[in-house]
Amino acid sequence: TKPEPQMIVIFGATGDLARRKLLPGLLRLLRRGEVTDGMPIVCLGRRDILPSDFLERLQVERFLPGDEPELIERFSRLLHYRQFDLQTGTAEQLTEVLQAVARDYRCGGNKLFYLALPTGAFGAVADLIKPLVSGDGWLRVVFEKPFGADLDSAKRLNDSISAVLREEDIFRVDHYLGKELVQNILFLRFANEIFCCAWNRDAIDNVQITVSETLGVEERAGYYDHSGAIRDMLQNHLLQLLSFTAMEPPTSNDPDAIRDEAARVVEHLRPPETADVVLGQYGAGRIGDRDIRAYRDEDGVAPESVTETYVALRTFVDTPRWQGVPFYLRTGKRLAHRYAEIRIVYKQHRCDGLDTPGRANMIVIRIQPDEGIALAFNVRKPGSDNEAESVLMDFCHHCHFGPNTPEAYEAIMASAMRGDTLLFTRWDWLRASWRFIDRLRAVAPPVVAYQPGSTGPAEGERLPEADQRAWVETTPATRRVSV
Ligand code: BG6
Repeated sequence: TKPEPQMIVIFGATGDLARRKLLPGLLRLLRRGEVTDGMPIVCLGRRDILPSDFLERLQVERFLPGDEPELIERFSRLLHYRQFDLQTGTAEQLTEVLQAVARDYRCGGNKLFYLALPTGAFGAVADLIKPLVSGDGWLRVVFEKPFGADLDSAKRLNDSISAVLREEDIFRVDHYLGKELVQNILFLRFANEIFCCAWNRDAIDNVQITVSETLGVEERAGYYDHSGAIRDMLQNHLLQLLSFTAMEPPTSNDPDAIRDEAARVVEHLRPPETADVVLGQYGAGRIGDRDIRAYRDEDGVAPESVTETYVALRTFVDTPRWQGVPFYLRTGKRLAHRYAEIRIVYKQHRCDGLDTPGRANMIVIRIQPDEGIALAFNVRKPGSDNEAESVLMDFCHHCHFGPNTPEAYEAIMASAMRGDTLLFTRWDWLRASWRFIDRLRAVAPPVVAYQPGSTGPAEGERLPEADQRAWVETTPATRRVSV
């Protein structure tokens, strides 16, 4: 279904997220016909700049590879920059600004607000939009992450917005849920007989989730130094990946049926102990031929900072399906490679019959780059004495579907415009995740240093050894998987 006519309002429109992700996503939605020429995009920012300057700075033509001047022109006509200061602006002023733009369009009263703002500003917006809620049409609000900094602050924030909005009109973003291969986890599991019946403790030995980044903190040190990898990545993206991997079959396709099961996973995570966690911080070093400054020497980072830029976690989902199956999660900045993937490592030698010590089967969900799904299985090595060799069946997403798969923020935007909540975090999930993360932060050991361009600190590498297991590494040579 196509989205209904609506006005899109972006708070924080001069920020990085709007420029790099949201507006390019909307441009692609215009090309796909999901955004139409009747849907104005009101860009609100604190800066006192002319709408024409805003457009010029944006350089819309750089959003799309290829030359599509007509599309750029149509998109530019939809963009309306208006100065609006959250601290001093009033609800009346906001209403006036929006009404003035709406006059030139037939978009009705539906409004989608996107808050590309720091979490501290969310409360102020809740107050501002209160009078608009009872107006014509619907009003949906998209909240960027992070949603709170711990259970207490998330609760306070949630109370303030749910005093104004209904849960179904609140869209808490986790852009990882917009990634195509993350949306595919449920299809892999529940649309395939061969996988859904072997997705449990009887068949699976352990699960490994890695989100490895080569970037450092870039220009975001002010935020990141107070957040760290636990709250920046683990609390949201990695726990969502875990939820989709471990959830029970939902009772229907309904977003809430699926979100019920996702929440149940986080509610059943075993509370972490100190030995389950490793925190790291990158020191100075080199990646390729580039010199890398230590995290503590980055602009905006406190010189004595003990903020973690890497976290590894061993955890268990205490449900009958997963009893005794370790889940290993890790993420870090300034690591050797940029990739995100989920590895389902199967048990070895459970099939009776041949006496062939093959390697464990494995399913690799490659979220990025090089999206796809690989299955490692054993075949007979030709000419051998019944020796097994592990080989790959490999599904490459863009080889099959072409390169134009919607990007995460495009999918997120399209879902919010349609009012589809599946790709967004519900409050019960969030509450359970913060409870888990608060506990984890309370027991976490101090940070240890690691080399930029490595796979993280040795302690993290050794984490699965507690269970006589090991990380299965992605090697740059094969880029996809090593079997
Ligand atoms: C964001 C984090 O949510 O996700 C960033 O705040 C991180 O620190 C980013 O770099 C990673 O997203 P992606 O889509 O590039 O893997």
